[in-house]
Amino acid sequence: MGILDNKIVLITGTGGGQGRVAALTFAREGAIVIGSDIKVDGNNETVEMVRRAGGTMTGFAPVDLTDPEQARKLVEDAVAAYGGLDIVYNNAAMQYFGPMPDFSIDHWRATIAGELDIPFFVSKYAWPHLVQRGGGVIINVASLAGMVAGETPPMVAHSAANAGVIGMTRQFALEGARHGIRAVAISPGPILTPASDRDLGDNQAARDAITSKTLLKRFGQPEEVVELAAFLASDRASYITGANYAVDGGASAW
Ligand SMILES: NC(=O)c1ccc[n+]([C@@H]2O[C@H](COP(=O)([O-])OP(=O)(O)OC[C@H]3O[C@@H](n4cnc5c(N)ncnc54)[C@H](O)[C@@H]3O)[C@@H](O)[C@H]2O)c1
Repeated sequence: MGILDNKIVLITGTGGGQGRVAALTFAREGAIVIGSDIKVDGNNETVEMVRRAGGTMTGFAPVDLTDPEQARKLVEDAVAAYGGLDIVYNNAAMQYFGPMPDFSIDHWRATIAGELDIPFFVSKYAWPHLVQRGGGVIINVASLAGMVAGETPPMVAHSAANAGVIGMTRQFALEGARHGIRAVAISPGPILTPASDRDLGDNQAARDAITSKTLLKRFGQPEEVVELAAFLASDRASYITGANYAVDGGASAW
């Protein structure tokens, strides 16, 4: 028995990082997983990993979720795959970093599209299916950057977009409650994924600057975010909606 037995979940960004771990964790807890990514190889690998572990997963890739039409089609394909949708896990995102005032308009727009448009588009198209099901759960992955300013690296668009995700989550919760839809945000602090580990390379000064803001003085692991998401998506969290949970090693506490 898992805490998500037979729940049908659409997880975005399952081509690697937290999304891959989310697919494995939700499947382990009994969920039927539909995953999607703009990256084909990474997404196929995740599907293989879930199936090898005995889970159920269907993947759709490449899908560029900054395009509303592709987001709409993904949701329709997901619903068709297993006959409905119970949980939407908005994990996929893409962002640029850079200081004021040189941060470019193009990078601003791409970050707002990659972090704020994606969860809105997917949720907009999934919403009627959740209503039809008698309710469901939307998990939005925001960021510590949506709660406090961040120095390393400078992050004006990332910060604005994720404050937007936290606000959007509250609004989803308000408008969804009458339909049995719960909406919850999770705000990770610095999480070490294969991609961020590779990007940081041997830049120990950057690693130290990032972890020094946490109380635990280390990066988090994807599992430490995803285990909370699994709980919040489950019926055990039935009185939780409209909230934002920091998973940041204490970085927002001071
Ligand atoms: N890693 C961190 O330190 C950290 C901190 C705070 C918040 N987050 C958030 O956690 C979530 C997961 O990120 P991650 O750390 O696993 O990083 P990641 O880059 O490994 O994962 C993001 C996934 O989204 C996919 N994606 C990007 N643009 C897409 C698009 N247009 N259409 C479809 N898929 C697309 C990517 O291909 C990738 O597989 C993101 O929402 C991110 O903003 C991460």
